[in-house]
Amino acid sequence: LGQEQTYFESTESTQIIAHKLAQEGVNEGHLVVANEQTSGKGRLARKWYSRAGASISMSVILRPKLSPQETPQLTLLTAVAVVRAIKKQTGLSADIKWPNDVLLNGKKVVGILTEMQADPDFVHSVIIGIGINVNHHATDLDSEILGIATSLAIEKGSDVDRAALISVILLELETLYELYLTDGFSTIRTLWETHSNSIGTYLTAKTAKSSIYGFAKGISDEGCLLLEDQLGEVHQIYSADIELMSN
Ligand code: BTN
Repeated sequence: LGQEQTYFESTESTQIIAHKLAQEGVNEGHLVVANEQTSGKGRLARKWYSRAGASISMSVILRPKLSPQETPQLTLLTAVAVVRAIKKQTGLSADIKWPNDVLLNGKKVVGILTEMQADPDFVHSVIIGIGINVNHHATDLDSEILGIATSLAIEKGSDVDRAALISVILLELETLYELYLTDGFSTIRTLWETHSNSIGTYLTAKTAKSSIYGFAKGISDEGCLLLEDQLGEVHQIYSADIELMSN
């Protein structure tokens, strides 16, 4: 992955560029990186702030032969790859909050956005967007996210080489992606559960329509959170915001 790359000093969103390149038919593994994004996209139509010189903003194009229902597995796989890369490159032990926030000391340091170009039963491309707060200092964090976000430099106490971290992320992503293509999701699921802070705890899953409190039993093959409510009914949560009891 990342053998072919497109680099921008500044762009709207690497995700938008990657969608265009995927449609134009670039090879699998194509990487889009930007030093700065002016209009970064987050999950659930939120904004994602990135800072010139301090953030990692990258999108990778994959072309797995999957059904659309299976693509959340790649989101979970990406979170594992990023946690492993951060550990290797900085020594910091991050954990994952379902589905794909990567946290250090309970604060968000990485956001992952997986989007597909697909028709009802065939995925053409999956665009994996990864945004990391790397060399932000406390005063650099936007006021909207101060208190809930952190950076690798803040947690480590020194700056981190962004290019080196991107290379390690690509290597980890490639290793896990190959494992996934040969062995399926079960090994990835086990790794994800090991790094997760949500499984085996009580939490609230909030969506625009409902809020369910329960015990997080694990994740399904489709990457859904399996949440057992107080009546013992197990809900499959496809998309929600999670509030952990400890927060
Ligand atoms: C989230 O936690 O809401 C996901 C944030 C994803 C941000 C990354 S940065 C690189 C790529 N380009 C974007 O515009 N978004 C993703």
